[in-house]
Amino acid sequence: MTNLFTPLKLRAVELRNRILCSPMCQYSSVEGAPTNWHLVHLGSRAAGGASLVMVEASAVEPRGRISPEDSGIWNNTHVEAFAPIVKFIESQGAVPGIQLAHAGRKASTLKPWEGQGPLTDKRKWTVVGPSPIPFSSGYPVPEQLSVEGIAAIRTAFVEAAKRSVRAGFKTIEIHSAHGYLLHSFLSPLSNQRTDEYGGSFENRIRFLLETTESVRGAIPDDMPLLVRISCTDWADNGWDIDQSVELCKKLKSLDVDLIDCSSGGAVPYQKIPVTPGYQVPFAERIRKAVGIATGAVGLITEAHQANEIIESGKADVVLMARQLLRDPYFPLHAAKELNMDIKWPPQYERVAK
Ligand SMILES: Cc1cc2nc3c(=O)[nH]c(=O)nc-3n(C[C@H](O)[C@H](O)[C@H](O)COP(=O)(O)O)c2cc1C
Repeated sequence: MTNLFTPLKLRAVELRNRILCSPMCQYSSVEGAPTNWHLVHLGSRAAGGASLVMVEASAVEPRGRISPEDSGIWNNTHVEAFAPIVKFIESQGAVPGIQLAHAGRKASTLKPWEGQGPLTDKRKWTVVGPSPIPFSSGYPVPEQLSVEGIAAIRTAFVEAAKRSVRAGFKTIEIHSAHGYLLHSFLSPLSNQRTDEYGGSFENRIRFLLETTESVRGAIPDDMPLLVRISCTDWADNGWDIDQSVELCKKLKSLDVDLIDCSSGGAVPYQKIPVTPGYQVPFAERIRKAVGIATGAVGLITEAHQANEIIESGKADVVLMARQLLRDPYFPLHAAKELNMDIKWPPQYERVAK
């Protein structure tokens, strides 16, 4: 029976188990370039046994950063800065992945330990979105992207994907969740355009589909491509799971390999019923209705809980964020708890048994 420690093949990539380190912004980059913090943070999760370590939302252009300290991959300096980090992740038996992102109307904010909300000092920049609707009161009104502006950002995703390949990443995740640019086109709450990128379902999903198709065409055939979506906005008249299922059928036909099933982030008045594993039913529904591999994420914190999700076929992998912050060695500890075999780093073997 498939369990949490059964390897999984996605194209050329073999995941040693089903525990993935979810992308997590570290607000520790310098002009988009990752630093030693990233080497230690990502490297620890790789040494700790995660099968794939996904680098945080990395902006495809400077305007696409959430905060000035976000990582990015819009130039070759970034490629050079990521390369040794990627190499170290791989040396620990984990697959290095990068989440490509554009923050859209939620860009230009303070890093969390500096405060909350948008930048107001000279560091702020003009944010862009599908329509001139701010995320929340106090947030800037986004500049509505023209059709040419949309095409330019799609190209930025493609160029960022090519740079990611050059940096050595073995998989790419397109970030279309949490209210950031691509998700903001999907949701009727943020997209009120009347051209071919707004209005009907087909129009709202166009930007994501075009971006996905272009990125897929720009990376090696044997490289897996993941897409993270918010399966629902948790708000009336917003994006929902039924639309997500229809979207995922189209993403599957574009040769996407796995849907990372998150939720929320589109609007501040969302009502999220947060309980352990609260997003798992989305991963299960999409996996069954679409026949595509899915990842479950959100309040997965325990070994037995994670194992049950995989054993019962609710998802193909679990992505973990906060639990891996508490315990970078969670996969090693989980294997012990579940009486399963896992290779510890040889430096730590004395405490493996
Ligand atoms: C510090 C931190 C940073 C995050 N940054 C990102 C990010 O860059 N991209 C993303 O898609 N999600 C991001 N998330 C969301 C996580 O990937 C994950 O989906 C969420 O925390 C729920 O999983 P958890 O309950 O295991 O923490 C972040 C979460 C945390 C705690």
